[in-house]
Amino acid sequence: MAVGGSFLLRPSLLSAGALQGPLPRVNGKRLVYHLNALAEYGKNPQGGVSRVAYSDADRAAREYVIGLMGAAKLTVSIDAAANLIGRRPGIEPKLPPLVIGSHIDSVPEGGNYDGDVGSMAAIETAQALSESNYPLIHPLEVIIFSNEEGGTIGSHALAGELTEKQLSQRTNSGKTIAEGIRFLGGNPEHLGAVRRKRGDIAAYLDLHIEQGGLLEAQHANIGVVEGIVGISQWDVTIEGFANHAGTTPMNQRKDALLAAAKFIESVNQVVTGSQGRQVGTVGKIQAFPGAYNVIPGKVVLGLELRDLEASKIQTMFERIRTESERIAASTGTRFDFAQVNSIVPALTDKRIRQLIEDTAKEWGLSTKSMPSGAGHDAQEMARLGPAGMIFIPSVGGISHSPKEYSRSEDIENGANILLHTLMKQDRVQ
Ligand code: GLV
Ligand code: MN
Ligand code: MN
Repeated sequence: MAVGGSFLLRPSLLSAGALQGPLPRVNGKRLVYHLNALAEYGKNPQGGVSRVAYSDADRAAREYVIGLMGAAKLTVSIDAAANLIGRRPGIEPKLPPLVIGSHIDSVPEGGNYDGDVGSMAAIETAQALSESNYPLIHPLEVIIFSNEEGGTIGSHALAGELTEKQLSQRTNSGKTIAEGIRFLGGNPEHLGAVRRKRGDIAAYLDLHIEQGGLLEAQHANIGVVEGIVGISQWDVTIEGFANHAGTTPMNQRKDALLAAAKFIESVNQVVTGSQGRQVGTVGKIQAFPGAYNVIPGKVVLGLELRDLEASKIQTMFERIRTESERIAASTGTRFDFAQVNSIVPALTDKRIRQLIEDTAKEWGLSTKSMPSGAGHDAQEMARLGPAGMIFIPSVGGISHSPKEYSRSEDIENGANILLHTLMKQDRVQ
């Protein structure tokens, strides 16, 4: 799909430099080449990547990204939260920056597209602008956020505050968040320096794979994201009593894992018990001491609830708590809930949604408005200024899996929509 044409800027906007030229467009081959090269960092035998935040693979991949940012003529820095920031000056240096970006950390045994597509496309966007000498009025920041998968940590540091509890949380890398930030070149003691307030950014745009199957099923090229779900996560500890698995009669047990099984079932029942698109998951579990011949005395499991409305998450949680009290009474166990993350739901900006629609139309691409069931840095950035998200199809609707895949043509299309929506947003007064 092609849109030709050239640009001609009002001379009053420019102090120097080119006044006209061919309209920028991304180089799709280069973009996919960079994406494939990035996939080498943390590559796993299943064909995806295990590049969890703060791992050696994460740090090595960030070095690669720093090189790409430099080639795109961005001035690179690492902030105290270990976000990678590439900056390009604007005609009006005092204006707040337009921000585009994503993340390159993955879930354990993840794929090559979640976050990576948006990260490589944001850098490609900067490179396309630079190669065509297209001046933006606003400064541009390309941000590769640190530790998105562990609770949008890098973007949260920009838009909110990382608590001591969060900083001491252990991550999949084995490091705490504070140790991980340091490992990547940040400084957890100076997080106040990265905090931004509403109005400190002109707008935020993020290109991402859909991670679901709606676009593919409806043969739509571009998803226009209406809002991003809130995500709340808890560590649930169930205390029972460890005892001999051979000599303790069934009616005298306080089996924490049996209580956990009943709890998991009840989470599913609560979440599916009302209308809506809410989801709930118990995605990890550990039983202690963990032996064939010992009744589990303790279980720690991870509970996650998501919805576009924070109040719905709260209602579900209260019901789940009530269920846990019932299960505790019937199994002789005790439940404790410790909230580890709470990411607020966010709506995207209506005007940006329209710009994405208009741009897609110009490029001959079909669109579909949709919510995002996955969490994104955009929901943190929406607290700082207008935010928009562009989705491209995920083949088979698969994500957080080595089988995650998006077609090169869709990636190139999405990147061009990112670039041209950005150029339009730059002119919004
Ligand atoms: C991030 O990918 C999430 O939705 O968990
Ligand atoms: Mn992502
Ligand atoms: Mn993800």
